Amino acid sequence: MFRHPQTIPKGVETDDAIRVQLSVNGEPLDLDLPPWTSLLDLLRHRLALTGTKKGCDHGQCGACTVLVDGRRINSCLKLAVSLDGAEVTTIEGMAGEGGALHPLQDAFVRHDGFQCGYCTPGQICSAQGLLNEGHAQSREEIKELMSGNICRCGAYPNILDAIEDVLNDRVSEPRMPE
Ligand code: FES
Ligand code: FES
Repeated sequence: MFRHPQTIPKGVETDDAIRVQLSVNGEPLDLDLPPWTSLLDLLRHRLALTGTKKGCDHGQCGACTVLVDGRRINSCLKLAVSLDGAEVTTIEGMAGEGGALHPLQDAFVRHDGFQCGYCTPGQICSAQGLLNEGHAQSREEIKELMSGNICRCGAYPNILDAIEDVLNDRVSEPRMPE
């Protein structure tokens, strides 16, 4: 069994592991996990899906945002063992057939919606969650409903441009993970 120093405290045996079945980016997984493993650590350390970023690890920055059954969550605050039967989508699962960019990825590129890119996977997953929720109808509402995703580079105007673009063009979007 994989042992990561941050997920298994010294002296604790992995006999404490709990069996969990979940799907990540469409791939069904059967995992034995220590009960304290966050979804973020599962994704990054065990599944090597490092697109999802660890910023604060305390629910403050949104860098770790992924979709669970189509709803956006901070994966650093979610225990993986609580997700039995869930479908998780990370930034690695957003692209379409043959690696075609998801409309949000395409819009972020076209609008320069990033600088260092560290917050970008979380921004894009959060934006997809926002679109799934269907509450944002205007730029101001996008701004309010994306406020949990911090961008230290200050790319906010371009991020808003990208999301607004996709919101206004939803009908032509080829793939929207639910
Ligand atoms: Fe999860 Fe910051 S790393 S909110
Ligand atoms: Fe650098 Fe957002 S692009 S933190």
